[in-house]
Amino acid sequence: MSSCVFEGNPYFSLEHCRQEYPSHGSTDFRRPAVELRQPNGSRITSFVYHSHTVTPGKPALEGLPAFFAREDEADTLTVYLADAVSGLRVELLYGVLEDCDLITRAVRVVNGGEAPFRLLQAASLCLDFLRADLDLITFDGRHTMERLPSRAPLRPGVQGVGSVRGISSHQHNPFAVLCEGDANEDHGLCYGAMLLYSGGFQAEVERDQFDNSRLVLGIQPRNFSWTLDPGESFTAPEAALTCTADGLGAMSRQLHRAIRRHLLRDPWAGKRHPVLINNWEATEFHFDLEKLEGIAGAAAQLGAELFVLDDGWFGARRSDRAGLGDWIANPELLPQGIPGLAERIEALGMRFGLWFEPEMVNRDSDLYRAHPDWLLQTPGRTPSHGRNQFVLDFSRPEVVDRVHAMMADILSGAKVSYVKWDMNRSITEAYSAALPPDRQGEVFHRYILGVYDLYERLTSAFPHVLFESCASGGGRFDPGMLYYAPQAWTSDDSDAAERLKIQYGTSFCYPVVSMGAHVSAVPNHQVNRATPLSTRANVAYFGTFGYELDLNRLTSEEREQVRAQIAFMKEHRDVIQFGDFYRLLSPFQGNYTAWMAVSPDRRTALVGWYKTLNEVNGPFRRLRLRGLDPALCYTVDGTSAHYGDELMEVGLVTTDSSAGECRDGQRPSRDFDSHIFVLRAD
Ligand code: GLA
Repeated sequence: MSSCVFEGNPYFSLEHCRQEYPSHGSTDFRRPAVELRQPNGSRITSFVYHSHTVTPGKPALEGLPAFFAREDEADTLTVYLADAVSGLRVELLYGVLEDCDLITRAVRVVNGGEAPFRLLQAASLCLDFLRADLDLITFDGRHTMERLPSRAPLRPGVQGVGSVRGISSHQHNPFAVLCEGDANEDHGLCYGAMLLYSGGFQAEVERDQFDNSRLVLGIQPRNFSWTLDPGESFTAPEAALTCTADGLGAMSRQLHRAIRRHLLRDPWAGKRHPVLINNWEATEFHFDLEKLEGIAGAAAQLGAELFVLDDGWFGARRSDRAGLGDWIANPELLPQGIPGLAERIEALGMRFGLWFEPEMVNRDSDLYRAHPDWLLQTPGRTPSHGRNQFVLDFSRPEVVDRVHAMMADILSGAKVSYVKWDMNRSITEAYSAALPPDRQGEVFHRYILGVYDLYERLTSAFPHVLFESCASGGGRFDPGMLYYAPQAWTSDDSDAAERLKIQYGTSFCYPVVSMGAHVSAVPNHQVNRATPLSTRANVAYFGTFGYELDLNRLTSEEREQVRAQIAFMKEHRDVIQFGDFYRLLSPFQGNYTAWMAVSPDRRTALVGWYKTLNEVNGPFRRLRLRGLDPALCYTVDGTSAHYGDELMEVGLVTTDSSAGECRDGQRPSRDFDSHIFVLRAD
């Protein structure tokens, strides 16, 4: 039944071969990576090897995020493919970053012919495996519960995830793992693949009749098309792949290292992220200057480093019904504008940060009244709203320019050190008034290019500003965003027990230093649960750390606890944010969660241990640690001393006073209990 390529040869079929950039319509019936419609209506192409080059270093991708490396850190292999009939060419760009076992791939499709072509799909990564006995792990969820690992063996046919929402989404993440069925944290072959893209994506694996499998990862092909006139090219975003035989933990550490060293850009690469206080959950829209200064003043006294003014400071924004799009301070709230408030915060000894939602507009705004045609909307149909807001057409340079002018004005006129860039809805009716009918398939991608363009302009003009991305929490927590904004608000769910799952799942790809994590008030705003203040901090330490509550509402004992927490974070921030991260106990498998961070020299480690529900007379427990030096002797919490091999092979006693072996007898035992063990070897 096979269809064969060469007459007279009954064996050679593309469906028997591994391919680097397959297309559909000839003898390979699996998922394609590329599809083009030609002037004569045909979609058949056949890209074959033409030549290749190897050059030192790794060039940037114009207008798109990409891993970067110095000339002595990476090589770039470019493989040139050609389609003899159409004149189309493809360039496959492979970056090889040996120091963290990372291979990147971007794709450029070039129209070297004489007629226009319509690109219908241009995946970034295609990887054929000569096996199908693999598990696929994707990271799925919803608003307030993002990136939960979901694992299943490959079954015959196509399986995968994606987003058609114009954002990478809360529902699925552009990161997937293929691993051996028995792979766990400590052993087994694992491949981790990510797409550096913040719009719609598709990640699919096809297991075929011969028990081979193919992973295809790239821009979401639904609603995508791109006209390539003669001489034009299209660059598909970068994908990155890592591989290890040492299990999921090692895979994550390789990815964390790669992201920290080669994706988070200067001046934030390797820099400590500040302990912040954000007013959102403390006030929502109900604040005045006095209230803000009260929150900031209390935080400054306790050691916070950055005050972030969230939504509600601009235009007519006193609820979510008005003001979006008008990035001018509300003079009634802030009589001395942003410069005045920033000065006052700086005088308290903190830096000042500000919330924006640049891509959005409320109808009740001056921007909308002046430019009602700047929305993404389909002619003759009512545009759908989300949280009473509409999406600006960022595929149009004049729209991006206008928003840029307003933001640059604020950032250059005041001492602003941080920006939270929010994006609070999925994109619908993606139609641009500025593009002709046959180019509407370009809107989603042009929109993201507009977002990246604005980020690039702002980050290069204001390099000292730390950007945190946000999309109703973690709706755009993806590697592409991290290139511009080195931290992301992990989830709108700030409950400590829920955050264990969210941060655990997120850590499969993303380093701790990129995860926004705050201590918030109880009962928690999202789940109404009360967890101890200590546990809220013990979870948030494994992130960028901050507070999202009114510290004036705490008791004086609690405020002293906060002072100690901030001091603890400052003391251990380097180990947590730049050390190696090990997952020890999964919140998805039992009542206990544990993880740890180990300093590069392995002399300091912090072990986070968390119990969900309390138990009485529970079994005797030890937690086997990872990543320590077996020959070093560690003191645990400054008291008992144990060699690394004992802690890794026999374990650290975590049993509390109600069980057989008790570590210190004093530790309180209750629901949502937790402890951070500090290990030091001198
Ligand atoms: C989103 C964000 C929150 C907060 C609000 C403000 O929900 O995720 O952190 O900034 O918007 O409206």
